[in-house]
Amino acid sequence: MIRKIKNIFMLGTPKTTYVFQALPSGHLEHLYYGPLLGDFSEKTDEELLQDAKCLEEKRAFPAGNMISYDQEHMDLTLEDLRLEMSSLGKGDIREPFLEITHADGSVTSDFLFEEARITDEKPEFHTLPGSLFGSREGQEQKCTENFCGERYSHLILTLKDASYDLRLELHYYVFEDCDVITRSSRLVNDSDEAVVLNRLMSMQLDFEDSGYIMSTFHGAWAREMYRSDVPIVSGKIVNSSNAGSSSNRSNPFVMLHREDTTESSGLCYGLNLIYSGNHYEAAEVNSFGKTRFVSGINPQNFSFILSPGDEFEAPEAVMTCSDEGYTGMSLSMHHFVREHISRGVWKHKARPVLLNSWEASYFKINENRLLRLAKAGKDVGIELFVMDDGWFGERNGDDCSLGDWDVNRSKLPGGLKQISEKMEELGLRFGIWVEPEMISRRSRLYEAHPDWAMQIPGKPHSEGRNQMILDLANPEVVDYLIAKMSEVFSSGKISYVKWDMNRIMSDVYSPALPPERQGETAHRYICGFYRLAKALTEKFPEILFEGCAAGGCRFDLGALCYFPQIWASDDTDPVMRTRIQQGYSYGYPASVMTAHVSASPNHQTLRETPLDTRFNVAAFGTLGYELNLNDLGKKELDEIRKQIALYKEWREVFQFGDFYRGRFDNIVEWTVVSADRKRGVGMMLQKLTEANHPFEMYRARGLNEGSRYHFYNIAKRHDIRDFGDLINTAAPVHVRQGSILQNMIARFVTMPGEQEEIETNGAVLMKAGVKLQGAYCGTGYNENTRYFADFNSRMYFMEEEKTSR
Ligand code: DGJ
Repeated sequence: MIRKIKNIFMLGTPKTTYVFQALPSGHLEHLYYGPLLGDFSEKTDEELLQDAKCLEEKRAFPAGNMISYDQEHMDLTLEDLRLEMSSLGKGDIREPFLEITHADGSVTSDFLFEEARITDEKPEFHTLPGSLFGSREGQEQKCTENFCGERYSHLILTLKDASYDLRLELHYYVFEDCDVITRSSRLVNDSDEAVVLNRLMSMQLDFEDSGYIMSTFHGAWAREMYRSDVPIVSGKIVNSSNAGSSSNRSNPFVMLHREDTTESSGLCYGLNLIYSGNHYEAAEVNSFGKTRFVSGINPQNFSFILSPGDEFEAPEAVMTCSDEGYTGMSLSMHHFVREHISRGVWKHKARPVLLNSWEASYFKINENRLLRLAKAGKDVGIELFVMDDGWFGERNGDDCSLGDWDVNRSKLPGGLKQISEKMEELGLRFGIWVEPEMISRRSRLYEAHPDWAMQIPGKPHSEGRNQMILDLANPEVVDYLIAKMSEVFSSGKISYVKWDMNRIMSDVYSPALPPERQGETAHRYICGFYRLAKALTEKFPEILFEGCAAGGCRFDLGALCYFPQIWASDDTDPVMRTRIQQGYSYGYPASVMTAHVSASPNHQTLRETPLDTRFNVAAFGTLGYELNLNDLGKKELDEIRKQIALYKEWREVFQFGDFYRGRFDNIVEWTVVSADRKRGVGMMLQKLTEANHPFEMYRARGLNEGSRYHFYNIAKRHDIRDFGDLINTAAPVHVRQGSILQNMIARFVTMPGEQEEIETNGAVLMKAGVKLQGAYCGTGYNENTRYFADFNSRMYFMEEEKTSR
């Protein structure tokens, strides 16, 4: 809902309020963004004006050593004013919203309010992806000049520079269904001289106080999304990427919250950017204890020439706020991503359980080997087989052939057509891996078009994973890729594409751009990537696209506008995955995060973990398998068959349910609950065990307090070899570990596992928690003992009783 009264603008969602005003000077003073200040559709204009008065800062005289805006507004010192956007050079020395070098060499700007418009429409951006408003079904009301009560509404402010012919648009989009407000900005050069844009942020949020904790998510390859919390009491904290992609080093999603915010209580802001390139999020505290947060394209190595008549659009930034802690914020973000970022056929569709060839065979693939693997997959319930890297050109390693997207006939004699048809005969859908944005120096494409690689002509180029990046800032390259990839995707029955991108940028330079425009290269590349992704996803709407960038090096809302899911990390170790997936979960829902069960010892950490733990963690994302099933014994295959059957039964809950984080220390506790709260699954994982520590408890979240639930686990029997030589305390003959005798006994004798079976109401499950069967603690074992060694885990199921009210 948007309401304008005189110079006051109020934006509201069911749980949040955002207010600002245009000052007599023309500057936009931010007044409030936070938990709901009451339903303003019910208040009179007079009441609302009084509310706004209350939010406004009172000024009398300028403080010493500060700049007064002008003679008419001596008390107006921009350095200490909360602003919706801040120009550079008129006294506000904090992080600016924009930086422009004008034709006369000046860098001072002063954008002042001109006019406002309210609408219920959200037009597409020209160069970038954006969120989508939902359907307006059943919404009769139309927007007026001063009010819009639609579920989705849009406020457009136009500002003009006081001295130059430049126009700035600030856009605010309100999503009532998920308590999200998004912002974007657009600069238009109405003058007859070129200007250089050095920075244009997407959003700015000025708080009246400081002491917020900024939570950011950092990492590296195979170690994405580790949360880091830093208090912002003075100075500046920056979270940014200069990798060319949004990066695994620093994800664009950040949280601002109070020190005492918890999962379920306290103030928490969630902030993200719909952009896949170099991003920048800075929080700065000024000398008066006010905090400014800005977010947008990273100004480092960025400049954009705007010729007369040109415009530049900044990506859309996403904001939500909750006083119900991280969970309240996360649930809104998840809803926003599922409903307004994800799109196309796969938006709400259950994602297939896939088997990927990478960790099963790496580059050693051929049709027979893949079909054997696929057959084993089909036998255990796999629905989609993915042929990963290695199927094209001379690709037997990572040092060649990127760009040569023609099938290697000695590996796949009948091409993609034949293998995909054979997969179909097996009853499987078929998918392929591609890395369209890359080029190997050792490739036919490079021989033909060395100028298509992003590199500084005549200068040495630094490579990553032995590859170079194609210059997507060059429209000709993008056109070529659209045509080439279209050919590949139509050359067989392809229902899935994994779109990889394995290196970050270096020696940033577009041979297609003149020297003075090189500051535009990285951004133009991202716009080229978006044009490519848009063209292909629109041309092949039925294909399920999965984004990937060496795992999570481009896990962001921009990529998610085209790819309904992203490979979250090349790390498939379940223990590390708890930290990685937990990190993602603050800002991204499970439906977009893919997770695979892989071999043990794990290929990234060499850690050995039980098969059920690998499944229990991966099931809290979009599930797949990535291991050589032909090397597994019957027992493991039977277990995988059961896992997949179970996942299919609960898939809607895992993929589209509401996700809740519980404890995260030695014990990791997660819960996912269906939207109607009738079905839930809990997961508890223990990193390292201790002796004599039998008591453990699981606490559910997200259920209906008053409903009765059946709480249970699926009991399983344990291998006697897991008990080592303790078997000798019961065996009539001595059994040596690893002996033939021990293996033989293990074939016939197993140990019982504990059964949990309770009927109780949601309040008990959530507030008191379930006291679980005691764990093995070194003194004895029976059918009521919970076998809970290192890296063990359990899943608990909760189903509402039919008789529940
Ligand atoms: C990196 C990806 O993250 C892996 O899953 C795999 O697809 C390899 N690239 C293939 O080269």
